[in-house]
Amino acid sequence: MSGFVIAVDGPAASGKGTIATRLAQTYDLAMLDTGLLYRAVGVLLARHGGDFDDVEAATRVARELTADMLTDPAFRTREAGEAASRVAVHPPVRLALREMQQDFARRPDGAVIDGRDIGTVIAPEAPAKLYVTARPEVRAERRFKQLRGQGEAVTFEDILEDIRKRDERDGGRADSPMIQAPDAVLLDTSEMTIEQATDAARRIVEAAR
Ligand code: C5P
Repeated sequence: MSGFVIAVDGPAASGKGTIATRLAQTYDLAMLDTGLLYRAVGVLLARHGGDFDDVEAATRVARELTADMLTDPAFRTREAGEAASRVAVHPPVRLALREMQQDFARRPDGAVIDGRDIGTVIAPEAPAKLYVTARPEVRAERRFKQLRGQGEAVTFEDILEDIRKRDERDGGRADSPMIQAPDAVLLDTSEMTIEQATDAARRIVEAAR
């Protein structure tokens, strides 16, 4: 790893995506949203009629995935998040997506990478690591508003249930579980506006520079 890498991990709807985007702007770094890779694998697999538990089929999709395939708005839906966490439990799928992520981490200027296992597995040497979280109810409220804004007919209770299930699956899987790296700084955004959370994230990064 040569450039300055900022690893931003944490659960769904914690604010990590927005924080990562803003850090990338502040430090003029390229950004990779690794959740999108898993979302793409889940959605494309389902589109081809595949089963989420079919490890071989899911791995084939992951191996064939390229960066230019990531722009489909279907990858941003609630269903896609669920599909992503189903395929993300398979070690060969994770392995197939690892190289693309580690190549990104080796960019000469550095990068901001957000996900679940960036500070632990993808870029353990990253000089700046954040673990962004918030209470499940707060995250559900944020995701609910976002999905409603996209026109999805969802209820708050459905979303809270999704978030709880996803936390359990992502945190409980054997391969690269969602966990705070020992050297990551915890940022709980439950009581923060996005501006406050971004300022706090910048201070954490400044301390690591
Ligand atoms: O971050 P996002 O909600 O888009 O991620 C969707 C799902 O992809 C997560 O719930 C998780 O199961 C999986 N994921 C992962 N490792 C990453 C990023 C995402 O397992 N680095």
